[in-house]
Amino acid sequence: MKILAIDTSADETAVAVVEGRRIISNVIYSQIDIHKKWGGIYPTLAKQAHEERIDGVVEKALKRFMIYDLRFKNIERYMDGIDAIAVTQGPGLAIALEVGIRKAKELAIQYQKPLIAVNHLEGHLYSCFAQNRFGKPTYEIKFPYLGLIVSGGHTEIVLIKGHLQYQVLGETLDDAAGEALDKAAKLLGLSYPGGPVIEQLAQEIGQIDKYHFPRPMLQSRNLDFSFSGLKTSFYYYVRELPEKEKIKSIKYLVSSFQEAVFDVIVKKTESAIKQTGVTNIIIGGGVCANLYLRKRLRAMVKKNNGAIIFPPFKYLTGDNAAMIGIVAGYKAKANQFVKNSDHLDRVTRMSL
Ligand code: KG4
Ligand code: ZN
Repeated sequence: MKILAIDTSADETAVAVVEGRRIISNVIYSQIDIHKKWGGIYPTLAKQAHEERIDGVVEKALKRFMIYDLRFKNIERYMDGIDAIAVTQGPGLAIALEVGIRKAKELAIQYQKPLIAVNHLEGHLYSCFAQNRFGKPTYEIKFPYLGLIVSGGHTEIVLIKGHLQYQVLGETLDDAAGEALDKAAKLLGLSYPGGPVIEQLAQEIGQIDKYHFPRPMLQSRNLDFSFSGLKTSFYYYVRELPEKEKIKSIKYLVSSFQEAVFDVIVKKTESAIKQTGVTNIIIGGGVCANLYLRKRLRAMVKKNNGAIIFPPFKYLTGDNAAMIGIVAGYKAKANQFVKNSDHLDRVTRMSL
């Protein structure tokens, strides 16, 4: 089954064509340059950019699919090879999600294709199972998994017992890990998104935890996260520093900040392994592009005799619709189609 998938949940206009786990085409228009000067996503600009780009991105994804499948080389018939339309229903920015949902409904009605609604977070988890168009890598999916999502909007640990069966074990009570990194970077006058900038500055000094900022929720037995205390303590520390000192110490500050965030992520994931006995880990979300965090997670999982799967980098850094298409394939198999597309609406705070 070939699925055309759409994701407009945040600041990427993304469309892909997917067959099972195989990604046939994957087109992303990133709005990062538009939002950079605001230090975060500016909602109305996001909506506007999605509206301007969505048709072009759909067309480009279909054209790349046609190159792959020459039976459909006539552009007028490009939808003939598509069996279903999938779209991200949430979580995300309401006015951004609406653009993708509207487009998906329009295509489903015009070309009489079934519609599948996908949770963006499921997408992040399933990005681990992505294969290229030749079906590589070939490893089989073996449940149960522990899923760790660390993105700009979410920090969650999920037990996945089978396809589409999720049990959230812990989540953030306030800021997401990526959001915390972005805010720390903003406070220091660094550019958006902050995660990669912090990573680079920390790398330059070899990742030294000079300031030992607090590790929130580390002592609590549950698997929830909270980063607001860390953020506040970082804020007060930085505020008291003379400007000259701040500039001189910036690499140590960001290095210590990310160490605190990652310490919590790694240790909570380890607690989840111990509590569930599940040692196979799948990862999703942009923060896991961080090489230092990956190294620490790998070492921790190895210590617990487990295995860890990271998504290919192109499905990890930034949102994409390929991951939405993979989930949609399993939903189609389970006959989970949208019954009445008139009733499909965005859900901005959608949990797993
Ligand atoms: O998954 P993602 O691209 O978008 C969603 O939030 O869904 O995640 C974006 C987040 C941002 O907060 C960004 O600062 C962070 O991922 N990020 C990183 C790195 N690359 C992106 N954080 C740490 N290190 C990185 N290399
Ligand atoms: Zn995302």
